[in-house]
Amino acid sequence: MNSDLESSTNGNSGCRVVVLISGGGTNLQALIDAAQQDTLAGAQLVGVLSNRPNAGGLARAAQVSIPSITLNHQDYASREAFDAAMLHNIDAWQPDLVVLAGFMRILTPEFVAHYEGRMINIHPSLLPKYPGLHTHARAIEAGDREHGATVHFVTTELDGGPAIVQASVPVHSDDTEAILAQRVQTVEHQIYPAAVAWFAQGLLTMRSGRAYMRGKLIGSTGLNWNESAP
Ligand code: GRF
Repeated sequence: MNSDLESSTNGNSGCRVVVLISGGGTNLQALIDAAQQDTLAGAQLVGVLSNRPNAGGLARAAQVSIPSITLNHQDYASREAFDAAMLHNIDAWQPDLVVLAGFMRILTPEFVAHYEGRMINIHPSLLPKYPGLHTHARAIEAGDREHGATVHFVTTELDGGPAIVQASVPVHSDDTEAILAQRVQTVEHQIYPAAVAWFAQGLLTMRSGRAYMRGKLIGSTGLNWNESAP
């Protein structure tokens, strides 16, 4: 691991983390596992919010007694009203960091501005390639030899905020969408806890729409996990 990506494994920053989910929550699980293994630099998972009552991730939170709340977006008259309710509930947990982990809603500019520099997302592609949906199918369709995942700060541009870290995996000629998705998820579960730990240690910052690691500007495609991971 090079010095850029070095992180202590047992800090005690007390960084309060709220995780937003819509689905199965395997990334949430990776964060829970990292917290339990003391590799999240002391970050605490203080709350989970789902917009879907049946999101599998809710059971993962319950299993380790992380408080959770479901706000069904269909119960709100507008995106603005839904985001205002989310903000109110998230802020009750007093988060230092909001982590989008498979949260499938477009956020209002007001919501994004409120958490500027303290909200991150994981996207299943090598951004800036393939923002949006169906990234695995698009990579296969394009004949890409490489695919992967990117952690980035959230800005109002969909999947367009400054990249933090990126991990790539090979694409095999006989890959199906599901097989490739699974290969990508394996690296997602490595880079997301790592990024949260860096943030918790105060190593990672966003200023004027740019991401910095230890005060050093991060390149446009993020830190390269493949070159630097242990
Ligand atoms: C992940 O592939 C992530 O990249 C994308 O949504 C998926 C969530 O999966 N944003 P999970 O719910 O964490 O299993």
